[in-house]
Amino acid sequence: MELIDGNLISNLVKEEIKKEVELTMSQGGKRPHLAAILVGNDGASEAYVGHKVKSCEQVGFSSTLKRFEATTTEAELIEAIHALNNDNDIDGFIVQLPLPKHIDSEKILLEIKPEKDVDGFHPINFGRMCLNLPSYISATPLGIMTMLEKYKIETSGKHCVVIGRSNIVGRPMSILMSRGGTPGDCTVTLCHSKTKNIKEECLRADIIIAALGKPGFLTADMVKPGAVVIDVGITRVPDSSKKSGYRLAGDVDFENVAPHCSWITPVPGGVGPMTVTSLMQNTLKASRKEIYK
Ligand code: GUN
Repeated sequence: MELIDGNLISNLVKEEIKKEVELTMSQGGKRPHLAAILVGNDGASEAYVGHKVKSCEQVGFSSTLKRFEATTTEAELIEAIHALNNDNDIDGFIVQLPLPKHIDSEKILLEIKPEKDVDGFHPINFGRMCLNLPSYISATPLGIMTMLEKYKIETSGKHCVVIGRSNIVGRPMSILMSRGGTPGDCTVTLCHSKTKNIKEECLRADIIIAALGKPGFLTADMVKPGAVVIDVGITRVPDSSKKSGYRLAGDVDFENVAPHCSWITPVPGGVGPMTVTSLMQNTLKASRKEIYK
């Protein structure tokens, strides 16, 4: 069994981005600029946005954080999105999810100009991804594809089982793994809460991507010897032995599954660090107008 080290790949990619920014700046170019909209005070969202701002500093991007009270209205958010759409200094921006219940997230995401949608959540970007056209690919799926690519993990002709059909991870992951390309060219089964015989489906898989948000869901008896296992889960589980009062738990029973695998991502230190780095890659592409000329 070998570990797929998300911290290692993330640092390598960030170094590459930093060099690109330094080169652009030395040639008199514009510093890439990412903005984030954060609504309310959810602990996990605060932490994610904090990582995004810190990563911008590390790679030499400018960043702007726009905070709103949890009681903010849809109209106020839409006004802020239109302002960012029209601000020429902002190359890309994100609206951190989840949003408070009184706000319709789908309606909000539709307001983001696809050219600045570095999260790849707008239906135009999602549709272009499905059609294998240039598009922003959302950060977690892009991070997983980068890890598979950097570790040269063979995917062509393999059977990939994705567990979880969220718009942010499972569904785009199922499309990316079935698209032509490297990584890609898999036969994909997308499992979800209504799937019958999920254990049998997983046992047929050469590659399992667990993205359902249930700590320890994937157990050793569900994994074929030699399979590649990618763990997307990052659930906060109460743990009084930690200073923060919680620990991060993956969707995979790592201790017992790891000995069965050829490759596996740990939690923490696997998919998590790649997610933020992918957002930096998308922001660099936005600043260079690589997707939308
Ligand atoms: N909430 C959880 N993951 C994400 C993400 O990748 N982007 C945004 N905007 N919100 C999230």
